[in-house]
Amino acid sequence: MSALAGGIESGPIVPSPASFSDSPLSAALSQPLMLGLFLPLQSGAWSASTLPRTTTWTFDYIAALTRRAEEIGFDLVFGLAEWVRHGGYGGTTRFREESLDPFITASALSAITHRILLISTIHILYGPWHPLHLAKFGATLDHISGGRWGMNVVTGYAPREPAMFGMQKVEHDKRYEMAGEFADMMETLWRSDSDVTHEGQFWRLDGAFVRPRPRFGRPIMVSATGSPAGFAYAGRHSDIAFITSPAGVEIEATLAVLPDHVARLKAAGRACGRELRAIINPMIVCRPTEAEARAYYDAIIAAADDAAVDGYAAHHAAADSKAWSNHRRQDRILGGNVHLIGDPRQVAAWLVRLKLAGCDGVQLTFFDFQPDLEFFAAEVLPLLKQAGVRR
Ligand SMILES: Cc1cc2nc3c(=O)[nH]c(=O)nc-3n(C[C@H](O)[C@H](O)[C@H](O)COP(=O)(O)O)c2cc1C
Repeated sequence: MSALAGGIESGPIVPSPASFSDSPLSAALSQPLMLGLFLPLQSGAWSASTLPRTTTWTFDYIAALTRRAEEIGFDLVFGLAEWVRHGGYGGTTRFREESLDPFITASALSAITHRILLISTIHILYGPWHPLHLAKFGATLDHISGGRWGMNVVTGYAPREPAMFGMQKVEHDKRYEMAGEFADMMETLWRSDSDVTHEGQFWRLDGAFVRPRPRFGRPIMVSATGSPAGFAYAGRHSDIAFITSPAGVEIEATLAVLPDHVARLKAAGRACGRELRAIINPMIVCRPTEAEARAYYDAIIAAADDAAVDGYAAHHAAADSKAWSNHRRQDRILGGNVHLIGDPRQVAAWLVRLKLAGCDGVQLTFFDFQPDLEFFAAEVLPLLKQAGVRR
Protein backbone atom coordinates (compact mmCIF):
# COMPACT_ATOMS: atom_id res chain seq x y z
CA MET A 1 0.00 0.00 0.00
CA SER A 2 1.43 3.41 -0.85
CA ALA A 3 2.05 6.27 1.57
CA LEU A 4 -0.96 7.36 3.60
CA ALA A 5 -1.70 10.83 4.86
CA GLY A 6 -1.49 11.40 8.60
CA GLY A 7 2.07 10.10 8.88
CA ILE A 8 1.10 6.51 8.27
CA GLU A 9 3.01 4.31 5.89
CA SER A 10 2.01 0.99 4.57
CA GLY A 11 3.92 -1.54 6.21
CA PRO A 12 4.37 -3.67 9.15
CA ILE A 13 1.29 -5.77 9.09
CA VAL A 14 -0.96 -5.23 12.13
CA PRO A 15 0.03 -7.66 14.88
CA SER A 16 -2.17 -10.70 15.04
CA PRO A 17 -4.41 -11.26 18.09
CA ALA A 18 -2.26 -14.40 18.41
CA SER A 19 0.59 -12.16 19.58
CA PHE A 20 -1.43 -11.16 22.69
CA SER A 21 -1.14 -13.91 25.30
CA ASP A 22 -4.54 -13.01 26.79
CA SER A 23 -6.50 -12.97 23.53
CA PRO A 24 -9.27 -15.51 22.88
CA LEU A 25 -7.37 -16.56 19.75
CA SER A 26 -4.28 -17.40 21.84
CA ALA A 27 -6.46 -19.51 24.15
CA ALA A 28 -7.80 -21.45 21.15
CA LEU A 29 -4.31 -21.89 19.72
CA SER A 30 -3.06 -23.35 23.00
CA GLN A 31 -4.96 -26.53 22.08
CA PRO A 32 -2.81 -28.99 20.13
CA LEU A 33 -5.75 -29.48 17.76
CA MET A 34 -8.35 -26.71 17.63
CA LEU A 35 -11.93 -27.94 17.47
CA GLY A 36 -14.46 -26.02 15.45
CA LEU A 37 -18.08 -26.58 14.54
CA PHE A 38 -19.20 -25.58 11.04
CA LEU A 39 -22.69 -24.27 11.87
CA PRO A 40 -25.57 -25.45 9.64
CA LEU A 41 -26.81 -21.94 8.85
CA GLN A 42 -28.22 -23.14 5.50
CA SER A 43 -31.20 -25.44 4.88
CA GLY A 44 -30.05 -29.00 4.23
CA ALA A 45 -26.77 -28.18 5.95
CA TRP A 46 -24.09 -30.04 3.89
CA SER A 47 -26.14 -33.03 2.80
CA ALA A 48 -28.57 -33.20 -0.12
CA SER A 49 -30.51 -36.08 1.45
CA THR A 50 -34.07 -36.47 2.61
CA LEU A 51 -33.24 -38.87 5.47
CA PRO A 52 -35.09 -37.39 8.49
CA ARG A 53 -33.02 -35.34 10.94
CA THR A 54 -33.32 -32.63 13.58
CA THR A 55 -30.98 -30.18 11.86
CA THR A 56 -32.43 -26.84 10.84
CA TRP A 57 -30.99 -23.43 10.00
CA THR A 58 -33.26 -21.65 12.51
CA PHE A 59 -31.61 -19.32 14.99
CA ASP A 60 -32.87 -21.22 18.04
CA TYR A 61 -31.26 -24.42 16.75
CA ILE A 62 -28.00 -22.60 15.89
CA ALA A 63 -27.94 -20.86 19.29
CA ALA A 64 -28.45 -24.15 21.14
CA LEU A 65 -25.73 -25.84 19.10
CA THR A 66 -23.28 -23.01 19.71
CA ARG A 67 -23.92 -22.98 23.46
CA ARG A 68 -23.49 -26.74 23.56
CA ALA A 69 -20.27 -26.60 21.51
CA GLU A 70 -18.89 -24.04 23.96
CA GLU A 71 -19.90 -26.21 26.93
CA ILE A 72 -18.23 -29.29 25.43
CA GLY A 73 -15.02 -27.28 24.96
CA PHE A 74 -15.04 -26.44 21.25
CA ASP A 75 -12.81 -23.48 20.36
CA LEU A 76 -14.78 -21.98 17.50
CA VAL A 77 -17.96 -21.93 15.49
CA PHE A 78 -17.98 -20.86 11.87
CA GLY A 79 -20.69 -19.81 9.42
CA LEU A 80 -20.52 -19.92 5.65
CA ALA A 81 -22.09 -17.31 3.38
CA GLU A 82 -23.77 -17.88 0.07
CA TRP A 83 -26.32 -16.18 -2.15
CA VAL A 84 -28.75 -18.73 -3.48
CA ARG A 85 -31.65 -18.29 -5.88
CA HIS A 86 -35.32 -19.20 -5.50
CA GLY A 87 -35.58 -22.97 -5.07
CA GLY A 88 -32.05 -23.23 -3.74
CA TYR A 89 -29.94 -25.80 -5.59
CA GLY A 90 -33.14 -27.66 -6.40
CA GLY A 91 -34.77 -30.95 -5.52
CA THR A 92 -37.59 -31.71 -3.14
CA THR A 93 -35.52 -30.24 -0.30
CA ARG A 94 -34.90 -26.94 -2.17
CA PHE A 95 -31.35 -27.49 -0.96
CA ARG A 96 -29.86 -24.43 0.78
CA GLU A 97 -32.65 -22.07 -0.31
CA GLU A 98 -32.86 -20.66 3.20
CA SER A 99 -29.86 -19.47 5.19
CA LEU A 100 -29.01 -17.12 8.01
CA ASP A 101 -26.39 -14.47 7.32
CA PRO A 102 -23.26 -15.41 9.34
CA PHE A 103 -22.23 -11.82 10.18
CA ILE A 104 -25.56 -10.92 11.80
CA THR A 105 -25.77 -14.38 13.38
CA ALA A 106 -22.32 -14.03 14.99
CA SER A 107 -23.37 -10.73 16.47
CA ALA A 108 -26.37 -12.38 18.14
CA LEU A 109 -24.31 -15.41 19.25
CA SER A 110 -21.70 -13.17 20.85
CA ALA A 111 -24.29 -12.01 23.38
CA ILE A 112 -25.16 -15.55 24.51
CA THR A 113 -21.64 -17.07 24.66
CA HIS A 114 -18.51 -16.26 26.63
CA ARG A 115 -15.43 -18.06 25.39
CA ILE A 116 -15.92 -19.57 21.94
CA LEU A 117 -14.57 -17.84 18.81
CA LEU A 118 -17.22 -16.77 16.29
CA ILE A 119 -16.11 -16.69 12.65
CA SER A 120 -18.30 -15.18 9.92
CA THR A 121 -17.74 -15.52 6.22
CA ILE A 122 -18.03 -12.27 4.28
CA HIS A 123 -17.93 -11.74 0.52
CA ILE A 124 -15.95 -8.54 0.74
CA LEU A 125 -16.19 -7.76 -2.99
CA TYR A 126 -19.99 -7.87 -3.25
CA GLY A 127 -22.20 -4.87 -2.89
CA PRO A 128 -19.71 -3.36 -2.89
CA TRP A 129 -18.72 -3.22 0.72
CA HIS A 130 -16.21 -0.49 1.48
CA PRO A 131 -13.18 -1.26 3.69
CA LEU A 132 -14.37 1.49 6.03
CA HIS A 133 -17.69 -0.33 6.59
CA LEU A 134 -16.07 -3.58 7.58
CA ALA A 135 -13.30 -1.93 9.61
CA LYS A 136 -15.97 -0.16 11.67
CA PHE A 137 -18.43 -3.06 11.89
CA GLY A 138 -15.57 -5.43 12.67
CA ALA A 139 -14.23 -3.21 15.45
CA THR A 140 -17.75 -3.02 16.87
CA LEU A 141 -18.30 -6.77 16.88
CA ASP A 142 -14.77 -7.28 18.20
CA HIS A 143 -15.72 -5.21 21.26
CA ILE A 144 -19.16 -6.76 21.72
CA SER A 145 -17.58 -10.23 21.66
CA GLY A 146 -14.47 -9.39 23.70
CA GLY A 147 -12.06 -10.12 20.83
CA ARG A 148 -13.77 -13.38 19.84
CA TRP A 149 -15.00 -12.40 16.39
CA GLY A 150 -13.25 -13.38 13.19
CA MET A 151 -13.81 -12.42 9.57
CA ASN A 152 -13.49 -15.18 6.99
CA VAL A 153 -12.64 -13.20 3.87
CA VAL A 154 -13.95 -14.82 0.69
CA THR A 155 -13.97 -13.33 -2.78
CA GLY A 156 -16.83 -15.33 -4.37
CA TYR A 157 -16.19 -18.29 -6.64
CA ALA A 158 -19.69 -18.70 -8.10
CA PRO A 159 -20.58 -16.57 -11.16
CA ARG A 160 -24.29 -16.34 -10.21
CA GLU A 161 -23.54 -14.54 -6.96
CA PRO A 162 -21.99 -11.28 -8.24
CA ALA A 163 -24.76 -11.22 -10.87
CA MET A 164 -27.31 -10.98 -8.05
CA PHE A 165 -25.60 -7.76 -7.00
CA GLY A 166 -25.64 -6.47 -10.57
CA MET A 167 -21.88 -7.01 -10.77
CA GLN A 168 -19.61 -8.79 -13.23
CA LYS A 169 -17.58 -11.72 -11.99
CA VAL A 170 -13.95 -10.70 -11.49
CA GLU A 171 -11.15 -13.02 -12.67
CA HIS A 172 -9.77 -15.38 -9.98
CA ASP A 173 -6.35 -13.90 -9.16
CA LYS A 174 -7.56 -10.32 -9.53
CA ARG A 175 -10.13 -11.03 -6.79
CA TYR A 176 -7.28 -11.81 -4.40
CA GLU A 177 -5.47 -8.62 -5.49
CA MET A 178 -8.63 -6.69 -4.61
CA ALA A 179 -9.00 -8.59 -1.34
CA GLY A 180 -5.39 -7.74 -0.47
CA GLU A 181 -6.02 -4.03 -0.92
CA PHE A 182 -9.27 -4.28 1.02
CA ALA A 183 -7.51 -5.99 3.94
CA ASP A 184 -4.59 -3.52 3.83
CA MET A 185 -7.09 -0.68 4.17
CA MET A 186 -8.96 -2.27 7.07
CA GLU A 187 -5.68 -3.03 8.85
CA THR A 188 -4.52 0.56 8.32
CA LEU A 189 -7.78 1.89 9.74
CA TRP A 190 -7.52 -0.41 12.77
CA ARG A 191 -3.99 0.69 13.58
CA SER A 192 -4.05 4.35 12.52
CA ASP A 193 -3.75 7.13 15.10
CA SER A 194 -4.99 9.75 12.68
CA ASP A 195 -7.29 10.22 9.71
CA VAL A 196 -6.37 8.16 6.69
CA THR A 197 -6.39 9.42 3.12
CA HIS A 198 -5.39 6.97 0.47
CA GLU A 199 -6.00 6.48 -3.23
CA GLY A 200 -5.92 2.76 -3.85
CA GLN A 201 -6.28 0.89 -7.09
CA PHE A 202 -9.81 -0.24 -6.16
CA TRP A 203 -10.94 1.90 -3.17
CA ARG A 204 -10.32 5.41 -1.82
CA LEU A 205 -10.22 6.71 1.72
CA ASP A 206 -10.45 10.43 2.41
CA GLY A 207 -9.93 11.48 6.02
CA ALA A 208 -11.25 8.13 7.26
CA PHE A 209 -10.91 7.04 10.87
CA VAL A 210 -12.12 4.13 13.02
CA ARG A 211 -12.43 3.91 16.77
CA PRO A 212 -12.68 1.89 18.94
CA ARG A 213 -9.47 0.11 18.11
CA PRO A 214 -10.06 -3.63 18.17
CA ARG A 215 -9.28 -5.14 21.54
CA PHE A 216 -6.25 -7.18 20.32
CA GLY A 217 -4.98 -5.09 17.40
CA ARG A 218 -7.50 -6.37 14.92
CA PRO A 219 -10.26 -8.98 14.68
CA ILE A 220 -9.20 -12.55 13.93
CA MET A 221 -8.54 -12.79 10.19
CA VAL A 222 -9.41 -15.97 8.33
CA SER A 223 -9.58 -16.98 4.68
CA ALA A 224 -10.68 -20.13 2.89
CA THR A 225 -8.71 -21.24 -0.13
CA GLY A 226 -6.83 -23.86 -2.09
CA SER A 227 -5.10 -21.80 -4.79
CA PRO A 228 -1.63 -20.20 -5.00
CA ALA A 229 -3.16 -16.69 -5.13
CA GLY A 230 -5.32 -17.54 -2.12
CA PHE A 231 -2.33 -18.90 -0.20
CA ALA A 232 -0.38 -15.70 -0.94
CA TYR A 233 -3.30 -13.62 0.39
CA ALA A 234 -3.58 -15.83 3.49
CA GLY A 235 0.15 -15.62 4.12
CA ARG A 236 -0.02 -11.87 4.36
CA HIS A 237 -3.34 -11.34 6.09
CA SER A 238 -4.82 -14.43 7.76
CA ASP A 239 -4.33 -16.00 11.15
CA ILE A 240 -6.14 -19.14 10.07
CA ALA A 241 -6.67 -20.60 6.60
CA PHE A 242 -9.48 -23.03 5.96
CA ILE A 243 -8.34 -25.60 3.48
CA THR A 244 -9.98 -28.48 1.69
CA SER A 245 -8.37 -31.77 0.79
CA PRO A 246 -6.73 -31.51 -2.63
CA ALA A 247 -7.40 -35.26 -2.99
CA GLY A 248 -11.18 -35.17 -2.54
CA VAL A 249 -13.16 -36.67 0.31
CA GLU A 250 -11.30 -39.95 0.87
CA ILE A 251 -9.27 -39.83 4.09
CA GLU A 252 -6.25 -41.97 3.18
CA ALA A 253 -5.78 -40.12 -0.12
CA THR A 254 -6.12 -36.87 1.84
CA LEU A 255 -3.52 -37.87 4.41
CA ALA A 256 -1.11 -38.70 1.58
CA VAL A 257 -1.26 -35.24 -0.05
CA LEU A 258 -1.99 -32.99 2.90
CA PRO A 259 1.54 -32.60 4.34
CA ASP A 260 2.81 -30.94 1.11
CA HIS A 261 -0.34 -28.85 0.72
CA VAL A 262 -0.15 -27.53 4.30
CA ALA A 263 3.61 -26.98 4.00
CA ARG A 264 3.00 -24.76 0.94
CA LEU A 265 0.36 -22.80 2.85
CA LYS A 266 2.57 -22.28 5.89
CA ALA A 267 5.52 -21.27 3.69
CA ALA A 268 3.32 -18.45 2.35
CA GLY A 269 2.92 -17.22 5.93
CA ARG A 270 6.63 -17.52 6.69
CA ALA A 271 7.43 -15.54 3.52
CA CYS A 272 5.62 -12.63 5.23
CA GLY A 273 7.26 -13.31 8.60
CA ARG A 274 4.02 -14.74 9.97
CA GLU A 275 2.69 -17.96 11.39
CA LEU A 276 -0.34 -19.20 9.54
CA ARG A 277 -2.56 -21.97 10.93
CA ALA A 278 -4.46 -24.51 8.84
CA ILE A 279 -7.92 -25.86 9.60
CA ILE A 280 -9.70 -28.55 7.60
CA ASN A 281 -13.34 -29.64 7.50
CA PRO A 282 -14.02 -33.32 8.23
CA MET A 283 -17.60 -34.58 7.78
CA ILE A 284 -18.10 -37.10 10.58
CA VAL A 285 -20.39 -40.12 10.40
CA CYS A 286 -19.67 -42.00 13.61
CA ARG A 287 -21.52 -44.84 15.32
CA PRO A 288 -20.56 -47.38 18.02
CA THR A 289 -19.34 -49.83 15.35
CA GLU A 290 -17.97 -49.37 11.85
CA ALA A 291 -20.87 -51.43 10.47
CA GLU A 292 -23.39 -49.09 12.10
CA ALA A 293 -21.56 -46.02 10.78
CA ARG A 294 -21.57 -47.53 7.27
CA ALA A 295 -25.30 -48.30 7.59
CA TYR A 296 -25.96 -44.67 8.66
CA TYR A 297 -23.94 -43.44 5.66
CA ASP A 298 -25.76 -45.83 3.30
CA ALA A 299 -29.14 -44.58 4.56
CA ILE A 300 -28.10 -40.96 3.90
CA ILE A 301 -27.00 -41.88 0.37
CA ALA A 302 -30.11 -44.00 -0.35
CA ALA A 303 -32.26 -40.96 0.47
CA ALA A 304 -30.30 -38.67 -1.90
CA ASP A 305 -32.26 -35.72 -3.23
CA ASP A 306 -30.98 -36.33 -6.77
CA ALA A 307 -32.09 -33.09 -8.36
CA ALA A 308 -30.47 -31.14 -5.50
CA VAL A 309 -27.22 -33.10 -5.89
CA ASP A 310 -27.22 -32.34 -9.63
CA GLY A 311 -27.99 -28.67 -8.99
CA TYR A 312 -25.21 -28.36 -6.44
CA ALA A 313 -22.72 -30.20 -8.68
CA ALA A 314 -23.64 -27.87 -11.58
CA HIS A 315 -23.11 -24.85 -9.32
CA HIS A 316 -19.56 -26.03 -8.59
CA ALA A 317 -18.90 -26.97 -12.22
CA ALA A 318 -19.67 -23.37 -13.24
CA ALA A 319 -17.32 -21.94 -10.59
CA ASP A 320 -13.57 -21.38 -10.65
CA SER A 321 -12.73 -22.62 -7.16
CA LYS A 322 -9.60 -24.73 -6.87
CA ALA A 323 -10.58 -26.03 -3.45
CA TRP A 324 -13.21 -28.63 -4.40
CA SER A 325 -12.07 -29.67 -7.85
CA ASN A 326 -11.66 -33.32 -6.84
CA HIS A 327 -15.17 -33.79 -5.48
CA ARG A 328 -17.30 -36.27 -7.42
CA ARG A 329 -21.07 -36.05 -7.78
CA GLN A 330 -21.66 -38.88 -5.29
CA ASP A 331 -19.46 -37.12 -2.68
CA ARG A 332 -21.89 -34.22 -2.67
CA ILE A 333 -24.78 -36.27 -1.25
CA LEU A 334 -23.22 -36.42 2.21
CA GLY A 335 -21.27 -33.25 1.37
CA GLY A 336 -18.68 -31.42 3.41
CA ASN A 337 -15.03 -32.11 2.89
CA VAL A 338 -13.01 -35.13 4.11
CA HIS A 339 -15.38 -37.98 5.01
CA LEU A 340 -14.64 -39.79 8.29
CA ILE A 341 -17.01 -42.76 8.48
CA GLY A 342 -16.31 -45.22 11.26
CA ASP A 343 -16.41 -46.09 14.93
CA PRO A 344 -15.12 -43.69 17.62
CA ARG A 345 -11.61 -45.20 17.63
CA GLN A 346 -11.28 -44.92 13.86
CA VAL A 347 -12.57 -41.34 13.82
CA ALA A 348 -10.27 -40.27 16.68
CA ALA A 349 -7.28 -41.91 14.99
CA TRP A 350 -8.01 -40.10 11.70
CA LEU A 351 -8.31 -36.76 13.51
CA VAL A 352 -4.93 -37.35 15.19
CA ARG A 353 -3.44 -38.17 11.78
CA LEU A 354 -4.86 -34.93 10.33
CA LYS A 355 -2.97 -33.15 13.11
CA LEU A 356 0.22 -35.08 12.23
CA ALA A 357 -0.30 -34.11 8.57
CA GLY A 358 0.02 -30.45 9.60
CA CYS A 359 -3.53 -29.33 10.44
CA ASP A 360 -3.79 -27.07 13.47
CA GLY A 361 -7.50 -27.58 13.76
CA VAL A 362 -10.57 -29.31 12.45
CA GLN A 363 -13.94 -27.79 11.79
CA LEU A 364 -16.55 -30.48 11.98
CA THR A 365 -19.72 -31.07 10.07
CA PHE A 366 -22.30 -33.77 10.78
CA PHE A 367 -25.38 -35.08 9.00
CA ASP A 368 -27.62 -34.47 12.00
CA PHE A 369 -25.89 -31.89 14.15
CA GLN A 370 -27.50 -32.15 17.60
CA PRO A 371 -27.43 -35.94 18.12
CA ASP A 372 -24.20 -36.44 16.18
CA LEU A 373 -22.43 -33.72 18.18
CA GLU A 374 -23.59 -35.37 21.42
CA PHE A 375 -22.26 -38.74 20.25
CA PHE A 376 -18.95 -37.13 19.26
CA ALA A 377 -18.66 -35.44 22.68
CA ALA A 378 -19.39 -38.66 24.56
CA GLU A 379 -17.40 -41.15 22.49
CA VAL A 380 -14.71 -39.41 20.41
CA LEU A 381 -13.64 -36.41 22.48
CA PRO A 382 -12.35 -38.54 25.39
CA LEU A 383 -10.19 -40.49 22.93
CA LEU A 384 -8.74 -37.24 21.56
CA LYS A 385 -7.87 -36.26 25.14
CA GLN A 386 -6.24 -39.63 25.73
CA ALA A 387 -4.24 -39.15 22.55
CA GLY A 388 -3.02 -35.75 23.82
CA VAL A 389 -4.47 -33.63 21.01
CA ARG A 390 -7.09 -32.05 23.29
CA ARG A 391 -6.65 -30.72 26.79
C1 LIG B 1 -13.66 -24.55 4.49
C2 LIG B 1 -14.05 -23.58 3.43
C3 LIG B 1 -15.14 -22.75 3.62
C4 LIG B 1 -15.56 -21.87 2.64
N1 LIG B 1 -16.63 -21.10 2.85
C5 LIG B 1 -17.07 -20.30 1.84
C6 LIG B 1 -18.23 -19.54 1.98
O1 LIG B 1 -18.88 -19.57 3.02
N2 LIG B 1 -18.66 -18.80 0.94
C7 LIG B 1 -17.98 -18.74 -0.23
O2 LIG B 1 -18.41 -18.04 -1.13
N3 LIG B 1 -16.85 -19.43 -0.38
C8 LIG B 1 -16.40 -20.21 0.60
N4 LIG B 1 -15.28 -20.95 0.42
C9 LIG B 1 -14.63 -20.87 -0.88
C10 LIG B 1 -13.41 -20.07 -0.87
O3 LIG B 1 -13.56 -18.83 -0.28
C11 LIG B 1 -12.88 -19.86 -2.24
O4 LIG B 1 -13.74 -19.06 -2.99
C12 LIG B 1 -12.71 -21.11 -2.96
O5 LIG B 1 -12.02 -22.03 -2.18
C13 LIG B 1 -12.02 -20.77 -4.23
O6 LIG B 1 -10.85 -20.09 -3.97
P1 LIG B 1 -9.50 -20.75 -4.29
O7 LIG B 1 -9.52 -20.95 -5.77
O8 LIG B 1 -8.49 -19.77 -3.79
O9 LIG B 1 -9.48 -22.05 -3.56
C14 LIG B 1 -14.84 -21.80 1.42
C15 LIG B 1 -13.73 -22.61 1.22
C16 LIG B 1 -13.32 -23.49 2.22
C17 LIG B 1 -12.09 -24.30 1.97
